[in-house]
Amino acid sequence: MKGIILAGGTGSRLFPLTLVASKQLQPVYDKPMIYYALTTLIEGGIREICLISTPGELPRFRQLLGDGRAWGLAIEYREQARPAGIAQAFLIAESFVGTGPVALILGDNIFYGSDTLQRAVAEFRSGATLFGYHVQDPERYGVIEFDTDGRAISIEEKPRTPKSNYAVPGFYIYDNSVLAICRGLQPSARGELEITDVNSTYLRRGDLRVQRLPRGFAWLDAGTSSSLHEASAYVQTIEKRAGIKIGCPEEAAYAAGFLSLSELAALTRQMPRCEYRDYLENQVLAEAQPSIPTP
Ligand code: DAU
Repeated sequence: MKGIILAGGTGSRLFPLTLVASKQLQPVYDKPMIYYALTTLIEGGIREICLISTPGELPRFRQLLGDGRAWGLAIEYREQARPAGIAQAFLIAESFVGTGPVALILGDNIFYGSDTLQRAVAEFRSGATLFGYHVQDPERYGVIEFDTDGRAISIEEKPRTPKSNYAVPGFYIYDNSVLAICRGLQPSARGELEITDVNSTYLRRGDLRVQRLPRGFAWLDAGTSSSLHEASAYVQTIEKRAGIKIGCPEEAAYAAGFLSLSELAALTRQMPRCEYRDYLENQVLAEAQPSIPTP
């Protein structure tokens, strides 16, 4: 499966932070926001990735992530000239997607707490798979309505009167027909190609699967000053308490088998002395060492 990270938009809600670096490059506690989405894809076993952002911001993403080879990935870049809708990502990345399935993640979404997304990628066969997450303020999101048997029966984008408390997080898995669906989309009243229209098409065809994310799972979006701060506080709390890192692509790439232990060690040695390097050396590499067969 290939993966797309959508990391464009104007970032206007984070002004003036976004005057010099886009939203997805802002720090969420101890790393750039985009690391979290990238790590989620890597954890799903996805190593061919296309990052989409604005023409102005793409050079900074390239500077940060390069071609991905250091992590055992292949990262390509595509421009979105203006934010004309999430579903436009598939038209922009059409040649990258090719003929297979594709996962899309929004660059300001952070997921943590279970392997539900990763299993969904591994088990994906056809149609579309979405997730449902119980929130207090569903009117801010795409909202899924379920029937009494728990089957999804409608999806609405930011409804005034939500039919449930289940929001659709920014992680979607589609078969290749997403390309044809997007080609046929018309812009909505707000002038965007809506991802909710893509999902409603799959729903009408009987090809949509919705998995509810378990209680205790964390889905954060970091699109406003408050939610950015809350996401940082959340990551700090978990990392300090458990002595682990959330959103660490090096660790995820090693766990996924994209990097060997010696490649991870070499990558770590190139880092300046810092807490991030200490973590990789003292936790990840140290824990992995005993499994190296002695010559
Ligand atoms: O976060 C999940 C929600 O994301 C879903 O529940 C909604 O169904 C979906 O429409 C979307 O709602 P948002 O109001 O959060 O969308 P927003 O316009 O803020 O865009 C989400 C991210 O995608 C944001 O980081 C900017 C980026 N983006 C957005 C658009 C419309 C782009 O890079 N290009 C775009 O054209």
